[in-house]
Amino acid sequence: MVTECVLPLIEDPTVMDNLQMAPHSEDYLYHHSVDVGIIAGCLGLWAGRPYREIEELILGAMLHDIGKTLIPLKVLNKPDLLTEEEMNLVRFHSIRGYKFLKQNTELPRSILLCALQHHERDDGSGYPLSVREDKIHPYAKIIAVADVFDAMTSVRSYRRRATPYEAVETLRREMVSKLDTQICTIFIDKLSQRFVGDVVELSNGQQGEVIFLNRFDSTRPMVRTREGDFVDLDKNRNLSICRMLHS
Ligand SMILES: [Fe+2]
Repeated sequence: MVTECVLPLIEDPTVMDNLQMAPHSEDYLYHHSVDVGIIAGCLGLWAGRPYREIEELILGAMLHDIGKTLIPLKVLNKPDLLTEEEMNLVRFHSIRGYKFLKQNTELPRSILLCALQHHERDDGSGYPLSVREDKIHPYAKIIAVADVFDAMTSVRSYRRRATPYEAVETLRREMVSKLDTQICTIFIDKLSQRFVGDVVELSNGQQGEVIFLNRFDSTRPMVRTREGDFVDLDKNRNLSICRMLHS
């Protein structure tokens, strides 16, 4: 699947648009695993990593949440807030995934570490071991970025789907101390390049097209509304892009 399906996709410049166009409300774990494989592969490619590494990275990304297959579905798919006990069970998925791969496969340690470390954060605020930046495998750092982005922009029952603009805002905030700064910068740059032409809905209900990016903050572009008004989101700070529409 890595070499025949995912690897050819990551060279397609429209791959991220296509991911956004294909919302999946069912089988989240499966779609999330494939999506994170594709996004992590793109990030590896954009970061200039060699193909041998990109293949490993994609495999690690597709297996990163394998530990979740060992959690009861009624907990995994629970639409309400989890109890503390259920939360601990879910958080345990990184250790369970690591152990499962170690005991049942002969995959390299780098791939096992993707399952173990994708919720670790550079400042030590992650889990399960709260290790810091220098102890987190580079693949796990890339997968963490892909995971945050995909989780936010996916369709889930318990919250509104975030737009890529909101996801970029989160990446920008988290790259200061939690996520890999270089990977986030590359990702934000690539995503922003495709913002012009997006048809969006603003928080006041107006709809329009992104026509011009603000040089310092791509998440607050100039929008031409259907009524023909120009709304500069950099100046109208009380407004934001809250939904993507397909033209
Ligand atoms: Fe996870």
